Amino acid sequence: MTAIQWDDSYVVGVGVIDEQHKHFVGLLNTLYESLESKHRENIPEIIKNLTNYAEHHFKTEEEYFDKLHYPDTGVHIAAHNELRAKVSEFAGRHDKPKKLGDDLLFFLEKWLLVHFRGADTKFAKFLKQNGIK
Ligand SMILES: [Fe+2]
Ligand SMILES: [Fe+2]
Repeated sequence: MTAIQWDDSYVVGVGVIDEQHKHFVGLLNTLYESLESKHRENIPEIIKNLTNYAEHHFKTEEEYFDKLHYPDTGVHIAAHNELRAKVSEFAGRHDKPKKLGDDLLFFLEKWLLVHFRGADTKFAKFLKQNGIK
């Protein structure tokens, strides 16, 4: 696995969403660095931060769904809920932190980047049409 380089292909074009996505990628890279280093004792803490941040970020998007009556709300929330369920499944596992961290990173990297480029990009287009930049 490698660290994620943030690049323009992840940008959705709405400031608050992009800032949060960047922060997310930063947290994934922190997890990556810790998996590569000898400081494995930090891993449970980093996983907790990632989980909390995911919730904070999903809430931010879901508040806009409500406020602006986003037509794709159902599908988008279902995707967030799928990730919530998966992350709590990971959190309930009793693997060694290294194994848990590796698996979680592998899963989140793929899931998030696909989600940013797909559902979130579509949602951001809707936000921009509603005057939110
Ligand atoms: Fe997002
Ligand atoms: Fe989303």
